[in-house]
This record gives sequence, C-alpha cells and structure tokens, in this order.
Amino acid sequence: MNVLVVGNGGREHALAWKIAQSSRVDRVFVAPGNAGTAEDAENVAISPSDFPQLIKFAKQNHVGLTVVGPEAPLAAGIVDALQAEQLRVFGPSKAAAQLEGSKVFCKNLLRNADVPSADYHAFRDAESAARFVTDRYPDKDQEVPLVVKADGLAAGKGVVVCSRREQVLAAIERIIVDREFGDAGREIIFEERLDGQEASVLAITDGRTIVTLTPAQDHKPAYDGDQGPNTGGMGAYCPTPLVDATMLAWIEEHVLVPTVHALKRSRRPFSGVLYAGLMITHQGPKVLEYNVRFGDPECQPLLMRLRSDLVDILEATVDQRLDELAPLEWDPRPAVCVVMAAEGYPGKYETGQPIRGLEQAAALPDVKVFHAGTRLVDGQVLTSGGRVVGVTALGNSIPTAKLQAYTAVKYIRWPGAWCRKDISDKAR
Ligand code: AMP
Ligand code: GLY
Repeated sequence: MNVLVVGNGGREHALAWKIAQSSRVDRVFVAPGNAGTAEDAENVAISPSDFPQLIKFAKQNHVGLTVVGPEAPLAAGIVDALQAEQLRVFGPSKAAAQLEGSKVFCKNLLRNADVPSADYHAFRDAESAARFVTDRYPDKDQEVPLVVKADGLAAGKGVVVCSRREQVLAAIERIIVDREFGDAGREIIFEERLDGQEASVLAITDGRTIVTLTPAQDHKPAYDGDQGPNTGGMGAYCPTPLVDATMLAWIEEHVLVPTVHALKRSRRPFSGVLYAGLMITHQGPKVLEYNVRFGDPECQPLLMRLRSDLVDILEATVDQRLDELAPLEWDPRPAVCVVMAAEGYPGKYETGQPIRGLEQAAALPDVKVFHAGTRLVDGQVLTSGGRVVGVTALGNSIPTAKLQAYTAVKYIRWPGAWCRKDISDKAR
C-alpha cells in the first residue's frame, strides 16, 4: 500500500518516518514535506490546502491511506473532500474538526457534556466584551485573572493570558477591532485563568473505541522557565509523571469519553486523534483546549516510543474496528524532543541558513532528528521556518533521554540557532 502524509512540519516527518517502517507499506509520500521527509519518504509539491490536486495525486499513485497532520486542512474539510472521492483518510470530518476550529463550539460542547474546563463568556462585539470587564472589575488596578481567546484558528497565537484590566482591553482591541487574527477574531472568549501544570493527553478514536496514548508535556513559552511569548511548542517529552495511571483513567472517564459521546450526539462523530490540552489544577485536570490532530512536537517523542505498527492503528481507526486492535506496545524508555529554532522566532526570523552537523547528530545512538522548517536546495539542507528541527532521543530515564537529546543538539549549527535548555525538567 502507498500512504500520503499531508503537511510539512516535525509532526509530519515523525509520521512519515514511522509509517515507512510498516511492513505493509510500499511508498510514503509527503505533501509538501521538508528536507527530512525527502530522506525518509518522497516529497510531492502539493499544498495541504489544494484538495483537488491531492485527490488527483492520491488516485494516480494508488494511495491506500492519506494521513492529515495539521489542523487547517481538517477544519477546511479535507477529510470530507477525500471521502467523497472514495479515498481512505485518517482524521476528523470538517464538522468534528470544529472542536479545534471554534473555541466557542468547543466550550459549549464541554459545558453541555459536563467536562471540567474553565468558566467562560463569549462575545461578538468589542463593546459588550469591554463592558463585561469594566463592570466586573471596576478598579483598574485590581487583579483580573482572565484569558482572552480568539474563536478561530490562530496558530496558537490568538490567546492572551491576562492579570490586568488594560491587558484584557488591549487584547479585545487586537482580536476584534484590529482583526490581528483575521476571521478567527469574529468572536472572542473570556476564560477564567487556571493555575497548575499543563499536560497533553492524546487519544486515537474511531468514534466508538478510545485508545489513549501515553501522556506528554509540551513547553509552549519560548524561553527557559516558561518565560517569553507563546510558541507552537519548544519541546516535549513522554511519558510525563504529572499524569499517573490513576489520573489518566480519571481523564478517560471524565474528559475523553463524555467528549466523544457529546460529538456523536451532536451528529459530528469523531474519528482521528483527539488531543486534550489539560491544566492539572488543585481541583483536578481541566481541559484548556482540544486539538483534532497529533500535537507538534508531542508527536515526535510519542512515535519514537511506539513499537506497534502505526499503519495498523490508523487503518483500524479509518475502518472503525479499533475495538479489535491489540493493545499498543511501547518502548519502556522515555523520549525527549528539543526544538531548535531560528533567531527571532516566534517573531520575525530569517530563512535560508545552511544547517551543519545533522549527520553527526543522527549518528548518535537512540537519536532521531525530525525536520520541521527545512528544505533541500542543491543537496544542501537550509532553514525555512521558525521551528527548524526537533532533536529527539530515548534514554533509560528522563534525565538520560534529555542528556542524549542535548548532546545531539550540540552538533547541529546554523547562525542564530537556539533552543530551550530545560525541556523535561518539570518531570523532576
Ligand atoms: P490554548 O491554545 O487554548 O491551549 O491556549 C494556549 C496556552 O494559553 C495554553 O497552553 C496555556 O498555557 C494558556 N491558557 C489557555 N487557557 C488558559 C486558562 N484558562 N488559564 C490559564 N492559562 C491558559
Ligand atoms: N504542541 C501544541 C500543539 O500541537 O498544538
């Protein structure tokens, strides 16, 4: 069978790498891919938003399964488009992808399903949003524990965690009035600000059976000690001791199962990866957000540890027979992924820098360098994005895996390259 992976980040490199290891797979294509996927699979120059070209390619190249990495094509209906052409595709429908595509939809569903989550209020216009804050917090110097979110997809950037009234008012201005995130800012949400550690619990579901993966932890702020602006994720590791087996069972029962049922009841049956972004508060885990795909970079350490054939899992999901799947097998060793980024990320950054040391890093035992923002030009690997590579390593303990990942990081160089130095430290 031939498989097509849609996307071009570190997550898609990890997916293509793992899928290529399946004995049942002949060729793995990645559209459009990066320099890393060019090595482990075959790149195809088609954009993830060009559904007609993807369909044409899948038909001409006998693609038996398409796997969609990023949220944007899912929210735009790529799964519906491919299914309408009798193509098999892993991922949720456009209707189900609203769980990530609209925070208002997600919050309403969570409230109706009684899933623990932050209290919220939704607004359609700047005046009523501003009135709400000034009425509730009349003193301009008092603590205002609110999080302001744009309703739609904003690449992780449409969220502002506030503590002062003027921050909330400035966020309303940026999101609704200036439309900094475009149509994503048509509606706005205020959430109660939660405190605690964050964890990512990803599960694969066909709408009936839920297979939970080992809990992971992402590092969203740019700099060490969780300082600086939010990014797509500067590193991840799994399993995280922040979610033990008892808590994971609780999350399945009180978060994942009611969510899958609520989606089915609202005639949006969910198939694919259900990713719960959780805050572990004093009152227990609460959902911060849902994503409808593998996390990036969580996918990289997760797949590094997965011993089962990923294609079996993906196909069982698409064919709605996850209940027949054997329990997943994992490498018992933890995995740590450190993202190396371009100077300036998550703000403006330069591209086109030649990357050195990739081969030396990859030659280390138990290390895999997943490419994200890279491209191959005349045989040379150049930077082409903000998050450039995700250096991932296995180790007998989390500190050992961390050490091995950072040992590999030292070999990889380009002008301005940087990374967080504390990935996985919260596990201690
Ligand atoms: P989201 O895209 O909704 O996951 O938000 C991005 C980041 O903002 C999360 O990873 C959290 O660090 C933070 N965040 C979101 N919602 C809340 C909340 N209700 N309380 C505290 N922090 C939050
Ligand atoms: N790692 C966060 C995300 O994939 O949204």
